[in-house]
Amino acid sequence: MSFSVPCVIPLYSLPKATRSKWTKIPTHAIVCCVFFALLNFAVRAQAQVTAPPASGIADPGLDKRVESILQQMTIEEKVGQLVQYSAGQPTGPGTGRTDYADMIARGQIGSLFNVIDPHEINKYQKIAMEKARLHIPIVFGLDVIHGFKTEFPIPLGLASTWDPSLVERASRVAAMEASADGIRWTFSPMVDIARDARWGRMAEGAGEDPFLGSAMAAAYVRGYQGSRLDAPDSIAACAKHYVGYGAAEGGRDYNSTEISEHTLRQYYLPPFHAAVEAGTASLMSAFNSLNGVPSTANPFTLKQILRNEWGFRGLVVSDWNAVGELIPHGIAADGATAARKAFLAGVDMDMVSSLYHDHLQQIVNSGQATPAELDDAVRHVLRVKLALGLFEHPFVDEAGVTKAFYHPENIALAQSAAERSFVLLRNENGPGGKPVLPLATGAENIAVIGPLGEDSSYPNGVPQGSGPRVSLMAALSQRVGKGHVFRFKGSGVLDGSDDDLVAAVEGAQKADIAILALGETPEMSGEAASRAYLGLPGRQQQLLEAIVKTGKPVVLILFSGRPLTVPWAFEHVPAVIAAWLPGIAGGPALARTLFGEANPSGKLVVSWPRTVGQEPLYYNHLNTGRPAGNTDLTRPPNDITERYLSRYIDEENTPQFPFGYGGSYTSFRYGGTRISTQHLSAAALNGGLAPAGGGAATMIAEADVTNTGSRAGEEVVQLYIQLDGTSVAEPVRALKGFKTVSIAPGETKKVAFELKPEAFAIWNARNEFSVEAAKLKVWISPDSARGTPAEAEILP
Ligand code: BGC
Repeated sequence: MSFSVPCVIPLYSLPKATRSKWTKIPTHAIVCCVFFALLNFAVRAQAQVTAPPASGIADPGLDKRVESILQQMTIEEKVGQLVQYSAGQPTGPGTGRTDYADMIARGQIGSLFNVIDPHEINKYQKIAMEKARLHIPIVFGLDVIHGFKTEFPIPLGLASTWDPSLVERASRVAAMEASADGIRWTFSPMVDIARDARWGRMAEGAGEDPFLGSAMAAAYVRGYQGSRLDAPDSIAACAKHYVGYGAAEGGRDYNSTEISEHTLRQYYLPPFHAAVEAGTASLMSAFNSLNGVPSTANPFTLKQILRNEWGFRGLVVSDWNAVGELIPHGIAADGATAARKAFLAGVDMDMVSSLYHDHLQQIVNSGQATPAELDDAVRHVLRVKLALGLFEHPFVDEAGVTKAFYHPENIALAQSAAERSFVLLRNENGPGGKPVLPLATGAENIAVIGPLGEDSSYPNGVPQGSGPRVSLMAALSQRVGKGHVFRFKGSGVLDGSDDDLVAAVEGAQKADIAILALGETPEMSGEAASRAYLGLPGRQQQLLEAIVKTGKPVVLILFSGRPLTVPWAFEHVPAVIAAWLPGIAGGPALARTLFGEANPSGKLVVSWPRTVGQEPLYYNHLNTGRPAGNTDLTRPPNDITERYLSRYIDEENTPQFPFGYGGSYTSFRYGGTRISTQHLSAAALNGGLAPAGGGAATMIAEADVTNTGSRAGEEVVQLYIQLDGTSVAEPVRALKGFKTVSIAPGETKKVAFELKPEAFAIWNARNEFSVEAAKLKVWISPDSARGTPAEAEILP
């Protein structure tokens, strides 16, 4: 076990006002060292990350250069490095300046974002490099979320592939395209754990699980930053929104969060730690308050955990005007106080509020912050700029920009990512007694119905993407010939007319099969897109029911940034695919999937609710003292044996589809889970020696998976554990491994996982990561709800 993180927590350096129960530290230094070391090994390994490249922000070779620049800087220039503005769209609170050029010339700006025109970028950069006294380059940022030009599926869709290497390749493409345009910093990945489908930003992340989320977080960072951060085609990553943003109460964006330290450490922090371990150059502090302390002014998370425990050396930027928002949050009476609180808590760069520009010099000059604290923040910014190689290569080659966009192999990658992101939710028998999907390759007449069948904007919300998108309608017409595909809008997304509905019904009656493209527009998920109702918006449900009533076979394709509650569909529509927002090649990917050239293998990364009233809904919940299990709703709730349980009286507890669920055109059978030992040793797992009672320090779990169908398929095999008898209640199941295997028809593959100590470590009642004695269950299963566990014990 290595002690690679500093274990001294300088509590005394935190402002008094912020010393809440959050900032209490263990009194024994040794305990402290052990638990940080444990935490370090636990979460790093859990995230399956490899060591960050030596050329990144951790490169010790940067230190000398940072110090030499720092020495030459005036206080005004130092503050300037901590100031960021949005020089393009959108404008909003904190924006609206027009004097960026003058400010850059005076060394008053460190970063600009939302400037997409490479000519503009060079124009500003020329001022920084030629007019400003110290020639410190500007770093240009942008929200490059799921591709820059070549749009990939939204992150929720990408995560549904359960394939970190694919995510890494997708973000590499994004980095190559964005960097060619002059963008060297993306505000991505969003690694917030999302347990509530009302929260629209669920679309931007990897779902509800910290293990999967950590693997994805690291994959994005590796992809963006490449093997060398200073390569011209690498961009700095920014893990956001630190931290707890996804736990917004009621699923309402920007709302407050209350998260216990146990839950924070075990669920919300691991993906951030994985991003840090993978070498992310930056983090973004979130909008939300966390247990009463706004995340943009929280020294416990920004200093104690991020810097002292994790040893992060990159830069922390606030979210949009989040420094200014400390005023409405109610912890700052004015801009100067807001700037002081954010700065002292550990926010290095102020995104758009201008409050650092307005007040930070005075804050330092008056002794409210020390010059050393200012230098530290500037160091973080300079490190990133130096690590990016911006001093050597500040300009973008304007002539070469578009050459980087829309390479056919990148569009092909986006298409395969889309195919692998689709989750087959249902595929029942149609009139011929066979599953409706895949469609027969004959010359059927297809009616493409619904508002999203042809909408070229469905794939994304990326403002700069304008490439060759192909809609579902266009792709199907290409596939089966124009004369066989007929288009009926049926309704709008939010509105509709009787005439459109009638025309669609008539169209379906004449066709052999109806493909319904329903769901949400891209604007209905993402930021500021919380929903209180999760059903199909507008008249789409009415349209769906009317088409199903025709008796024609129906395939429903749901486009959305979250699961939608459409229980009627899951009872009456034979085939349903969750297509998320599938990106530039979504149309062809769907056509290939419908006709079986691509076999769905995506699995849900969020629990799919039956009704909005179940939210927040997540598989890794606690058992409670009165577990209801899968409540039998046919037994009346006024039956006393059924009533006083943790249940709803009017709905099942279980989701419509559990986390990890996803179908295929073939079928898989799982053999039982076999484990290499029935006895593990907590002492040995914690790095010590097994006591006399014995017990192993590692476990191999394996299962045979057989393809029992008639076509080849890929299966995402998942491993879950449950710990019982620990000092803190642990979830009913926790994901600790996953592997994708390709299996030929009739073939059986053995899938094995090695469970290392970190799989069993929990944030315990003494506020430390360790392995405790417990009863252990291990499942290797197709999702989070099925399978029979193997049982073992962790001895003390
Ligand atoms: C969002 C961030 C984003 C930033 C800059 C904010 O409103 O919360 O995720 O990076 O804007 O566009």
